[in-house]
Amino acid sequence: MYHFVSLLLELIWISFISSSSAGEESLEKHPTNITVEPGQNVTLPCRTPDSKPVIAVEWSRTDLGSEYVLLYRNDQFDLENQHPSFKNRVDLEEEQIKAGDVSLVLKNVSTDDRGTYECLVIQTETNSRGKTVLYINLDVVPPPDQRNMTAELGQNVTLPCRALDIKPIIVVEWDRTDLGVEYVILFRNDQFDLKNQHPSFKNRVDLQEGQIKDGDVSLTVKNVVTDDRGTYECRVSQSETTSRRQTVLYIKLDVVPPPGEPVDKNKDGSGQLSVVLLVAVIMGIAIAVGVFVMYRKKLKFFRPPEEPAEPEVSIPLDSSAKF
Ligand SMILES: *[C@@H]1O[C@H](CO)[C@@H](O)[C@H](O)[C@H]1NC(C)=O
Ligand SMILES: *[C@@H]1O[C@H](CO)[C@@H](O)[C@H](O)[C@H]1NC(C)=O
Ligand SMILES: *[C@@H]1O[C@H](CO)[C@@H](O)[C@H](O)[C@H]1NC(C)=O
Ligand SMILES: *[C@@H]1O[C@H](CO)[C@@H](O)[C@H](O)[C@H]1NC(C)=O
Ligand SMILES: *[C@@H]1O[C@H](CO)[C@@H](O)[C@H](O)[C@H]1NC(C)=O
Repeated sequence: MYHFVSLLLELIWISFISSSSAGEESLEKHPTNITVEPGQNVTLPCRTPDSKPVIAVEWSRTDLGSEYVLLYRNDQFDLENQHPSFKNRVDLEEEQIKAGDVSLVLKNVSTDDRGTYECLVIQTETNSRGKTVLYINLDVVPPPDQRNMTAELGQNVTLPCRALDIKPIIVVEWDRTDLGVEYVILFRNDQFDLKNQHPSFKNRVDLQEGQIKDGDVSLTVKNVVTDDRGTYECRVSQSETTSRRQTVLYIKLDVVPPPGEPVDKNKDGSGQLSVVLLVAVIMGIAIAVGVFVMYRKKLKFFRPPEEPAEPEVSIPLDSSAKF
C-alpha cells in the first residue's frame, strides 16, 4: 500500500513537472513536415496552448535573417520588416487570432518558399512564460512529369531524367512500377548498388556517371526487348532537401519491332504472327465449308451421302496453303 501511494505521488509529481515546463515554453523539437505543389495555397498551422490574449505573432523562416514572413502586433500587421518575397502572399485569419489560432496562410507557393518556418506567439505575460515556438518544414515539389516513349527492338534507348535542383545528388533510383522491390538501377554514395537489381537488367543498364554531378540522371537501356515495356520511375534524393526521395518523372516505354522487318522472321513479333495464322485458319475453314456444301449438293444427285468425310478434310488444308 505504501509503495502504491509513493508511486502515485511520484506520477503526480512527474506530470506536474512536465506540465509546468510545457507552459513555460513549448518548443517543438520535431517539426511538422508539409509538402505542397507550386501554385497551391498552404496553411501552416500554429495555435496557442491556451486562450490568453495574443500580444504578438512572429512568423519567420530560419534562413531569412532579421526579416519576417509576417509580423502581427498591437492588433495590426507590421509590413515594414517583411521579407519582400512574401508581400501580399501571406495572411492570418484575424478573427481566429482571439481564439488562439495564428496559422499562416501562404498563397501561390513556389519552390523558393522551401524552408523551416518558425511560429512565435507572445501572450499576455511579458516574461518567457507566455511564449510559444513551433517549427514547420515546408517542402514545395512539382508533381512528377509523365511522358511516353517508344523504342525499337534491339536498339539502345535513353530515358531522360534531370534532377530538379542544382544540388549534389545522393541517390538515383530507377524503378519499374511492376517490378516490386527490385530496381532497374540504384546509384548511391557514388557507386552502383547491384545487389537489389532486377536480373533482367544485369549489364544492360547504365547512367552517364560523369554527368550525374550536373543533375543528368538519364538511364540507358541496351538491346531493348519486349519485356522492357512498362512504366519507369526516376527518383532522386539530394542533400539539403528532405531525406525523402523525390519522384521526378514517369516514363511509359513501349517496344516495337523495327520498321520494314519481315514479321515472321521476328520472334518477338509473335503476336502479329499469330494474327496472320488465325486469319489463314479462318479462311481455310470458310473455304472448307464452302467446298463441303458444294460437294454435298453435287453428291446428292449422284451418290449416297456417307462418303464425303475424307475429301472434306484434305481439301481445306490445300486451299489454305495457297493463301
Ligand atoms: C489561393 O487563394 C486565392 C485567394 O485566396 C484564390 O484566388 C486561389 O484560387 C487559391 N488558389 C488555389 C490553388 O487554391
Ligand atoms: C504565382 O507565382 C508565380 C511565380 O512564382 C507567378 O508567375 C504567378 O503569376 C503567380 N500567380 C498568381 C495567381 O498570383
Ligand atoms: C501516354 O499514353 C497514354 C495512353 O497509353 C495517354 O493516355 C497519355 O495521355 C499519354 N501521355 C502523354 C504525356 O503523351
Ligand atoms: C548499344 O550500345 C553498345 C555498347 O554501348 C554498342 O556496342 C551497340 O552497338 C549499341 N547498339 C546499337 C543498336 O546502337
Ligand atoms: C519530418 O521529416 C524529417 C526528415 O526530413 C523526419 O526526421 C521527421 O521525423 C519528420 N517529422 C514528422 C513529424 O514526420
